[in-house]
Amino acid sequence: MNTVASIAAKRDGRELSPDEIASLIDGFTRGEIPDYQMAAFAMAVCCRGMSLRETAALTEAMLHSGVTLDWPDDGRPRVDKHSTGGIGDKTSLPLAPLLACCGMRVPMISGRGLGPTGGTLDKLESIPGFRTDLSTHEIQRIVDRVGCVITGASDEIAPADRKLYALRDVTATVASIPLITASIMSKKLAEGLDALVLDVKHGSGAFMKSVDDARALARSLVDTGTRMDVATAALLTDMNQPLGWMAGNAVEVDECVALLRGEGPEDLKSLTIALGAEALVLAGESRHREAAETRLARELESGRAYEKFREMVAAQGGDLEAPREAAKPRNVSRDKSGYVESIDTEKLGLAVIELGGGRKHKEDRIDHAVGIEMLVRIGDQVESGRPLARLFTRGPCDEATLLVEAAFSFSPLPVAPPPLIVERIA
Ligand code: URA
Repeated sequence: MNTVASIAAKRDGRELSPDEIASLIDGFTRGEIPDYQMAAFAMAVCCRGMSLRETAALTEAMLHSGVTLDWPDDGRPRVDKHSTGGIGDKTSLPLAPLLACCGMRVPMISGRGLGPTGGTLDKLESIPGFRTDLSTHEIQRIVDRVGCVITGASDEIAPADRKLYALRDVTATVASIPLITASIMSKKLAEGLDALVLDVKHGSGAFMKSVDDARALARSLVDTGTRMDVATAALLTDMNQPLGWMAGNAVEVDECVALLRGEGPEDLKSLTIALGAEALVLAGESRHREAAETRLARELESGRAYEKFREMVAAQGGDLEAPREAAKPRNVSRDKSGYVESIDTEKLGLAVIELGGGRKHKEDRIDHAVGIEMLVRIGDQVESGRPLARLFTRGPCDEATLLVEAAFSFSPLPVAPPPLIVERIA
């Protein structure tokens, strides 16, 4: 295959064949196609886009660059959820055990924090002993016995994506819907799924700021999953304020434990149940979303989902009862009154990083004990001086305080809170 000809074809807006795409990815993964050629190809895709056929071929080639999980057919569908990420976005923790309680197998491979958005693995590692580096064999054993697992991707899963993502990160080629689609879907489909539900977020704390961009990404992800014979649907959801009250690591685990014990914030509960219901319908386990929602709510309220979570944590070496460290609380207020009009949610994510709860550099260690508790939401009426948020901090936190103060804007007139679930795409 002629690599230069393929790059030129994409540069000129021509559609590449699945074979051309497979050779590019195969050559790149083996080190036969150098970074500079792959960077040129990624830029051509950024500028010219890809057809659905090309995006599916790219996803397939990246998926087959590594191992895929193979499951015996024991009658339990394999399902998972992927979120494009946000602040306080913690639905994976309650959702995996909830779906396992409903007879699903959930081999959830998750990631770490990316920029201001938190990462599921970082949150779970605030549970003493919890392991996120399970081997393929361990994933299969625990899913078989417990029904769910939440772990990191081993080097064997979609290695082409790891290599290509590192290159995109430094060549301004991350923001491309076909490249994002292939990156996300190759990792998720390597789990050997029957059904996948996507939570595509938009707003001030999301990767996609506008609902139109989020819709376009959701469409591409759903079409690609469907084309690859995995039942796929997406919910477009709001990230103009954090999900739940907590953002950080241990504080988010605490909030999920509260939810699994039948408490916890209403928005987190309703989104977890909505995503779970989509997964049960996609997997053919429920015929109607309403019935699936009722079943999931029952699993939460009965305490069975909490017990399942505890079982999963123990199987992964963690101790859910062991105390999780919490840093000292410190309130943040403003001398303004009115209705909370908007929250620059990305600033809250940056504040968590300033406190030490996220990474500025890839090799930074996370402080699991720090974080933010939101004390108001969009639409709340506040008096001057009322605390807006509480920081959990190890010491002086001027930068984080400034970021949190600057995140809030107020209106003298009442403000309607944004809807949490905007649209369903299937
Ligand atoms: N997350 C991914 O896994 N890949 C992308 O390309 C962007 C976000």
